[in-house]
This record gives sequence, C-alpha cells and structure tokens, in this order.
Amino acid sequence: MTLVCVCMYFLILPSIGDSQPSSSPIGDAHGVCSQCQHSSTCEADCGDPRGYICKCPLFLTGITCDRAYIRDCQDIFDIGVTQSGVFYIQPDDATSPYQIWCEMDTSIGVDGGGWAVIQRRFNGSVDFFQSWLLYKDGFGNISGEYWLGNEKIHALTSLKSYKLRIDMTTWDDVDYTITYDHFSVGDEVSNYRIAIGAKVSGNIIDSLGYHDGVPFSAMDVDNDNNIGVNCADYCRGGWWYTQSGLLNCFQSNLNSEYDVGGLRCEDEEGIVYYTTSPPSPPEWICLRIVTLKLKP
Ligand SMILES: *[C@@H]1O[C@H](CO)[C@@H](O)[C@H](O)[C@H]1NC(C)=O
Ligand SMILES: *[C@@H]1O[C@H](CO)[C@@H](O)[C@H](O)[C@H]1NC(C)=O
Repeated sequence: MTLVCVCMYFLILPSIGDSQPSSSPIGDAHGVCSQCQHSSTCEADCGDPRGYICKCPLFLTGITCDRAYIRDCQDIFDIGVTQSGVFYIQPDDATSPYQIWCEMDTSIGVDGGGWAVIQRRFNGSVDFFQSWLLYKDGFGNISGEYWLGNEKIHALTSLKSYKLRIDMTTWDDVDYTITYDHFSVGDEVSNYRIAIGAKVSGNIIDSLGYHDGVPFSAMDVDNDNNIGVNCADYCRGGWWYTQSGLLNCFQSNLNSEYDVGGLRCEDEEGIVYYTTSPPSPPEWICLRIVTLKLKP
C-alpha cells in the first residue's frame, strides 16, 4: 500500500508581529496552523504527526514559533549580522517575542552596531500624540517611524544595563548626538519611571537628565508634578514630563507633535531639545529627525 501525502497547500499568515492565531484552514484537523504565531508560515508536512509545521522567521523557535531565542540587538550583532533591519527579540522579562529595528551600522565608530531602536522619527508620518495605552503597547511602523512601547522598553532594560544614544538632526540640517551610560524604564506600577545615567559623549548638553526619576505621562494619564497643567496634553506628546524651577514641563520633548518645517519652533512646539541648562534662559533646537537607541 502506498501512502499519499494530500496536505499539499501552505498558508501565509498575517505578518507585522501579529500574535493572533490565524483562522484554521480547511483540513487542519489538529489545529496546528491556527497556532502558528507571529509571522510564521504554516506548511503541510506529512512527516510531522500533526500534518503541518510552523516555519519560524529568523530567531523565533518552538512548535508554534511562540518565542525568540535572541534577547537584544547586541546578541544579533555578536553572531555576525551586520545588516540593519527588523528582527524578533525576546528579553527575559518579555512574555512574548516582539519586533524591533536593529541598527547594525558600524560607520559611527567603535560604538557602531547592536543598537536597539526604541524611538524613531524622520518625516511625521506617524502621530505621536497618543494615549497611555498606545504608549504602553507601542505604535507606528517598525521599518518606519515608531515608539517601541513602554512595556517592551521596560522588559528590555530590566535585562542588563543599557547605554542610550540619541541622534538628532535639526530643520537646518545640523546633526547632534549624545550618549548616556545608563537608561532604564520601570514597570507599569512605577508608571514607567525613567532612570537616566550620566552623559558620556556627544556634541550637545544633557537635556534628558532633567527628567531622571520621573514617571511617564500621556495625554490621558497625568503623572507630572505640575499642578496647573497636564503637561502631556499641553505639550502634545507622551514623555517623562516634570516641573522644576523655571521649567514648566520639559527640557526635552522628543515625542511631541511633528512640526513640519519647524514653523512653530519659536513657541517651543514640535520636537524640542534644550541647548541651555537652568538657570540660563532657555534656548532650544527643533528637530526634523530623532532616534533613541539602546546598547548594552
Ligand atoms: C514617511 O516615510 C515613510 C517610510 O519611509 C513613507 O512610507 C511615508 O510615505 C513618508 N511620509 C511622508 C509624510 O513623507
Ligand atoms: C512601513 O515603512 C516602510 C519603510 O519605511 C514602508 O515601506 C511600509 O510601507 C510601511 N508600512 C506601513 C504599514 O505603513
């Protein structure tokens, strides 16, 4: 007797970090295809007792591709990947894998490669004036503009100590960069409180340290200490807003609304970064491009 393999089709599941199981295809008696996670492909496989297998994207594993065996972009860089792009990672504290843009470009010098991008903006295609829930879960397009999400940033930064690098370009095309020796974000119980270390290099003053130890606020969740103003709503973003001395809400506002052309820069609107420290009168730059990225 000859056994004929009849399970000859395969199914492409929805992509983009989708953890929803697909609907069960006809003939998938054991429901395996419906369990294929993330961007895995379900393929007929008569050699498998289930009749199907989930073919996992790079770095995902398990029968249903439900976990990643890589924890951050540095791990990916260390195994020899030198091309920037979208990869699945899963820090120890993360309940499931998620996609992130890994910047592997070594042209920035000894520090090049292995950077995990947590925020990227370059043309205003993604609206950053968003709710607490969206800031928690993340939004945007991992190959374009995005906020990774406070939950994912927390999981990543509780793994080990990370440096933070911010790259910025103004509307008149001046480039700035700053690197801090530590950056982490607490859990939701702490309201994603930020811890920021010391500036170790760069060509601009530290304007993030002002926000050290401050809980996160979004348009609908006001955790700032400013009595009169909901800074997130007033300053049109989600950030670690806080009032101190002469400054009302921020010394940097990198998740603020995108101000094409920097037309509202003189009113401190748009993506703003201060270039003076208190008690000097505030001066600031307005940004066309900004990226926040982490590396152990
Ligand atoms: C911004 O860039 C993205 C990704 O490259 C592109 O898809 C989009 O059309 C651009 N949007 C604008 C407003 O330029
Ligand atoms: C995401 O951005 C990439 C490139 O930047 C673009 O090609 C793609 O169309 C965008 N996807 C969505 C869903 O906007």
